[in-house]
Amino acid sequence: MPHNYYTGEMAEIKIDGKVHELPVIVGTEGEKAIDIRSLRAKSGYIAFDGGYANTGSCISNITYLDGESGILSYRGYDIAELAENCSFVEVAYLLDHGSLPTRTELNAFSQMLNDFAMVHEDMIRFFDSYPAKSPPMAILSSMVNSLCSFYPEMANNPLENIDKMSARLLSKVRTIAAFSYKKSMGHPVVYPRHDLSYCANFLNMMFDSPVRPYEINHKVVEALNKLLILHADHEQNCSTSTVRMVGSARVNLYASVSAGISALWGPLHGGANQAVMDMLASIHENGGDYRKYVERAKDPKDPFRLAGFGHRVYKTYDPRCRIIKQACDEVLADLKYSDPLLDLAKDLEEVALKDDYFIERNLYPNVDFYSGIIYRAMGIPTNMFTVMFALGRLPGWIAHWKEMWDDPAWRISRPRQIYVGPLSRPFVPIDQRG
Ligand code: CMC
Repeated sequence: MPHNYYTGEMAEIKIDGKVHELPVIVGTEGEKAIDIRSLRAKSGYIAFDGGYANTGSCISNITYLDGESGILSYRGYDIAELAENCSFVEVAYLLDHGSLPTRTELNAFSQMLNDFAMVHEDMIRFFDSYPAKSPPMAILSSMVNSLCSFYPEMANNPLENIDKMSARLLSKVRTIAAFSYKKSMGHPVVYPRHDLSYCANFLNMMFDSPVRPYEINHKVVEALNKLLILHADHEQNCSTSTVRMVGSARVNLYASVSAGISALWGPLHGGANQAVMDMLASIHENGGDYRKYVERAKDPKDPFRLAGFGHRVYKTYDPRCRIIKQACDEVLADLKYSDPLLDLAKDLEEVALKDDYFIERNLYPNVDFYSGIIYRAMGIPTNMFTVMFALGRLPGWIAHWKEMWDDPAWRISRPRQIYVGPLSRPFVPIDQRG
């Protein structure tokens, strides 16, 4: 990617009495940065930024996020418009190709997704070896890693084959996710169908059965499209940065994405959607006193935090949460499904948003706060929620891996540290230690 965002302006840093000049970069949306890559060579100092809250790890043209104003766009398109007007497959194409597809391009892309939907029969046998209660994210991560054994030709010339490789991954992850659910239930797997759209196909593989055919509900398909679109990318979050970091060692797409899936699993990241549901269910089962949980979340001595609240970047309402909250009402009404956990979630949100603790810290509900309620209404079990997040995030991971691989300024990711351990000391042979 050409690094043409240098303004010519220089920032000055004074250390040990000497002034060093560092170039200033300004992104297309006005985001400012100081290029510190020459800092250590010039001054002997490194920058310390644990948790990377102030560190730009790359220059990217995929997703723009303004956490102060609550703006999120993919390739320049506002996510609200994409969620309202597009299918997930269109958005996946947009993220991975840089522009929205024409009808012909979309048809060709959908055809590729169909062509790659099956999973090698030998891989299907892997499912039989997992213990029944295996976490689906563990299965997903290892299955995706295994794809490079079954499709090794892709490892050699990644960019030449990137379209094929991305379509293969997008399509197979959906099949693997649905199969892992079927296997966890002890039910026969349902194969993908060429006549169904991406989301309808997934739902059919999840819920069709030899004894009760699944009836596709278009409202549910629409809602799933929306949820996946809203999860499709979120710039340098923990899992995407992981995909980039692993890929920076010139690791193939499947292995890099597999690492991203593991990062997403954590309850502070994608695992929060499952944690929210567990939290709401537990409040409900214990009498519904949500105020007690809000108080616990505020107590510095209690490690409990409100799942689905707070965000590293958003200091205002998460724009994805706003759309999901509205979709939640619509889907539940369409399905004539009433969920006491939705009322509980709304009450809890209302109390938290009026509380000084949450106001002072800019803590708002995030993307994970309401998504689980929709998944639950669709019949998706709680332990599959983070898998759903992974399905959605996949186009973003692919786009970032591709951008990283294609970047002429690419270098292996290798941060430094500040060592504060013992100073050099003489070695003590084992029988003289005591
Ligand atoms: N409940 C109660 N207090 C909170 C919460 C919460 N959910 N989140 C942050 N705080 C407090 C935190 O204790 C700290 O207080 P103090 O300044 O008194 O020490 C302050 O707010 C700042 O928090 P932080 O931990 O410095 O913020 P962070 O940017 O390092 O962490 C976060 C961000 C998302 C990990 C955190 O807000 C959190 O743990 N939230 C709950 C888990 C969650 O919902 N994660 C999903 C994130 S969005 C989707 C995704 O990324 O996958």
